[in-house]
Amino acid sequence: GGGGHVEDYSFSFEGPFGKYDTNQLQRGLQIYTEVCAACHGLKQVPIRTLADEGGPSLPEDQVRAYAAQTFEVFDPELEDFRPAKPTDHFPANTAAGAPDLSLMAKSRAGFHGPYGTGINQLFKGIGGPEYIASILAGYEEAPDCAPEDFNGYYNTVFAPGGYPDECKIYDEHGVEIGRKAPGSWIAMAPPLAGEDVEFADGHSNELHHEAQDVAAFLMWAAEPKMMARKQAGLVGVIFLTILSVLLYLTNKRLWAPVK
Ligand code: HEM
Repeated sequence: GGGGHVEDYSFSFEGPFGKYDTNQLQRGLQIYTEVCAACHGLKQVPIRTLADEGGPSLPEDQVRAYAAQTFEVFDPELEDFRPAKPTDHFPANTAAGAPDLSLMAKSRAGFHGPYGTGINQLFKGIGGPEYIASILAGYEEAPDCAPEDFNGYYNTVFAPGGYPDECKIYDEHGVEIGRKAPGSWIAMAPPLAGEDVEFADGHSNELHHEAQDVAAFLMWAAEPKMMARKQAGLVGVIFLTILSVLLYLTNKRLWAPVK
């Protein structure tokens, strides 16, 4: 409990025919690079996958330039740092306490209900990218009940962070029965305020757009083969449907003389 409302943003990759939006992934990559990479790593993601079809689909030469100009990696053979190559992975995180984001979009759920059953996930999806976008847009001024020097930044969506006793509601036995404000205090300062980046495609850089773009990029990072998986699933359903029809007809025919 204690988590705030996760906005059910709609993403292009939802549903059985959903696809990543190449332009959105490129914008998300830009936000990750210019803002998030200052603290967070993506150590499980090979840089070369930025060229993959169905992903950000950058041209190969652009990927090479991006790797070399953006990141330095330690090369054990050279015993020194060198510009990154497409075959390297994104670097690991640099700031203490900032978790790696490679799998973040799959390790967090946005939807839990009703009553914790998770049934909403059947219709809305697990909600990882919605959760990330909501956190980024979920910072607010701390409620009046909180002491001014309380550690961290008040976020209406983040649940597991610190929470001041002054904002808890207790019954007469001193048992906590509620909270005056949703969310909790997170160690990450608000990374996005809106207008943090300029997009080459002129797309809006309002806070909630930036938040969705970087969340979509992190979904791709966590599940780059989502489209192939959905396609395989669809082929499976079609195949099983045809097989069922054939079995039905075979069955009728086999038993026809007996009836
Ligand atoms: C935590 C995303 C920028 C420092 C997180 C979490 C996410 C996230 C999804 C995990 C929340 C959870 O555990 O449920 C992002 C994105 C960024 C960004 C998308 C860029 C738009 C930054 C920057 C810094 C930073 C620039 C450092 C100045 C941290 C820290 C935590 C964290 C320290 C741990 C917070 C805690 O557990 O209290 N971030 N982040 N992040 N981030 Fe960021």
